[in-house]
Amino acid sequence: MQVLVTGGAGYIGSHIVEVLLDAGYDVIVFDNLSTGHRQAVAPKAMFVHGDLRQIGQVEDLFAAHEFAGIFHFASYILVPESMQKPWMYLRDNVVASANLLEVATRHGVGRFILSSTANLFDDPQRIPISEEEHVIPGSPYGESKAIAERQLLWMERIHGLKYCALRYFNAAGAHPNGHIGEDHPVETHLIPIVLQVALGQRDHITINGTDYDTPDGTCIRDYIHVLDLASAHVGAFESLADGPSRNYNLGTGRGYSVQEVVETARKVTGHAIPVQIGERRAGDLPALVADNTRIKQELGWEPEFAELGAIIETAWKWHQSHPRGFNG
Ligand SMILES: NC(=O)c1ccc[n+]([C@@H]2O[C@H](COP(=O)([O-])OP(=O)(O)OC[C@H]3O[C@@H](n4cnc5c(N)ncnc54)[C@H](O)[C@@H]3O)[C@@H](O)[C@H]2O)c1
Repeated sequence: MQVLVTGGAGYIGSHIVEVLLDAGYDVIVFDNLSTGHRQAVAPKAMFVHGDLRQIGQVEDLFAAHEFAGIFHFASYILVPESMQKPWMYLRDNVVASANLLEVATRHGVGRFILSSTANLFDDPQRIPISEEEHVIPGSPYGESKAIAERQLLWMERIHGLKYCALRYFNAAGAHPNGHIGEDHPVETHLIPIVLQVALGQRDHITINGTDYDTPDGTCIRDYIHVLDLASAHVGAFESLADGPSRNYNLGTGRGYSVQEVVETARKVTGHAIPVQIGERRAGDLPALVADNTRIKQELGWEPEFAELGAIIETAWKWHQSHPRGFNG
């Protein structure tokens, strides 16, 4: 069965490509390499260089291949950048998903998995956060994902497209064999930054705010291993063959504070990892943790990497063997 993975040269997409190949799918990756890496794409996948914002390129792709389903990862992904340059998100991300959905539905594609985000929940009434929570995007980035979810709703109603939006909390870790991992051109994610300090590439990690209403005063996030994301994608895709469309909040259901991440990284790496205390960052919520009850009950999904230490070990293996990422 042939499937399309947009953004399959990126961090999360490249891991899902490998899991899909292992599960027996034929995989076509479509990526403009704006933040992804050609070397991250498994040799057994076909790579097509192209940009979703160019509808002609999307049409050429669908004219050349027949897809049973689509995994849509391609997107700009940075919350702070989206506050500085909102139209990269409110226009480019939105046009990218619109072009993809317009052409896909014209070609009768039946199943679609969207990378959505916890940034849909800027004012959660309850932690952990369930699918019942109101969608209040926290940034133009989150808004672009909320719009993509709405586009899907209409494509189901009009064309019968089956979809699943997976709202990831904090993706983390790397393939356990260490050959692919996280390498964003601008790294904003805590675990890679902490490991760059362990490698001596940065002097220290700044903890932004120690006066939040949490047990140690630092922000709490839910870190989910990239291969656990991958198994959820495959499970969600397969469930759409005979099940309804739906949205799932996707995390381990357990939160760790910034302080706990640093301490765990010290244990895993054996390095001191100096810390400086900084001001709170605008827009950071004290705690973001997923209620994963629905995906566990409906898909039988369980995270394999439930402990933070196991997640950081895989990331450390990748960063040690690729200290400069894919291009080092
Ligand atoms: N990393 C996280 O913690 C996290 C959390 C929630 C949601 N997500 C979502 O998961 C998805 C993947 O995130 P990631 O961390 O792997 O990011 P990434 O930047 O590593 O991957 C994105 C990929 O999409 C490609 N791309 C971007 N715009 C494109 C376009 N117009 N046409 C074709 N290709 C394009 C990039 O070159 C890159 O390979 C994104 O949709 C992101 O919003 C990520």
